[in-house]
Amino acid sequence: MEIDNRLVIISSESKKYLSVITKGKEFITNDGKIEFDKIKSLPTQIESSTGKIFTIYVPSYKEFILLMKRGPQIIYPKDVGSILISGNINANSKVLEIGTGSGALTLFLASILGTNSKFYSLDISKKNQYRAKKTISRYLSNYSSDFINDIQFINTDLSDFKIDTVPFKFDTVITDVPEPWVFFENNHINSNLYWVSYLPSISQVSKLADALQDNSFKDIEIKETIEREWTIRGNISRPKHTMVGHTGFTVSGRYIL
Ligand SMILES: C[S@@+](CC[C@H](N)C(=O)[O-])C[C@H]1O[C@@H](n2cnc3c(N)ncnc32)[C@H](O)[C@@H]1O
Repeated sequence: MEIDNRLVIISSESKKYLSVITKGKEFITNDGKIEFDKIKSLPTQIESSTGKIFTIYVPSYKEFILLMKRGPQIIYPKDVGSILISGNINANSKVLEIGTGSGALTLFLASILGTNSKFYSLDISKKNQYRAKKTISRYLSNYSSDFINDIQFINTDLSDFKIDTVPFKFDTVITDVPEPWVFFENNHINSNLYWVSYLPSISQVSKLADALQDNSFKDIEIKETIEREWTIRGNISRPKHTMVGHTGFTVSGRYIL
């Protein structure tokens, strides 16, 4: 793959930067400049203008998502795993995402859904969807594999969306909007469907749990994913002093019949 225009992490021991290799240009860090023309392959190590060594490599999803420029608040990577399990996502899933936002979850789904899947992503904001599309193609262009290439972006208010207008049945609905229960005002589910909502506040959780129960969803689960990292070094083995606290609750359920 061409080196020019590739997305990379430029990393010292203390800091990581996200950048794009651009022929003839340089990248300025707190520890000197890196000349992009010195990068001949990836991964590699380059000395900056102040003599500091930087490692340059292709970002992971987590690095990209946490370092990218974004609009609305993203679903934090630790919560993505839990959402995928609750939504029973597999390579052939037919997925409706409500709340494209910055495209963080959209991007992960796009990277795991196969060519036989279906993927719709809905948002009221054209601006957010435009930015999300750019983010997704920027990240996926870094890989040569086949990804789902026909995400259907629907630009509408959830309250105007009618699931019956879609010519197939979704397997999973994933929401990251403040009022997901609005979905049930216009839509009646009567076949197998996994539902997962990401919600920051418990008052929203309670309203949604009621809506899922009223619509005959079963196996309703309300969860928080708490990730606690540890330091293991020589004689030291203890949890780190800082951690990401509350991000969001996931509320999931399944309509069976
Ligand atoms: C927090 S963001 C979603 C972030 C996204 N899950 C991510 O990981 O990047 C919420 C999005 O929901 C959209 N939204 C809010 N209310 C909506 C509604 N009633 N109908 C459709 N979209 C809505 C907003 O425009 C915003 O882009």
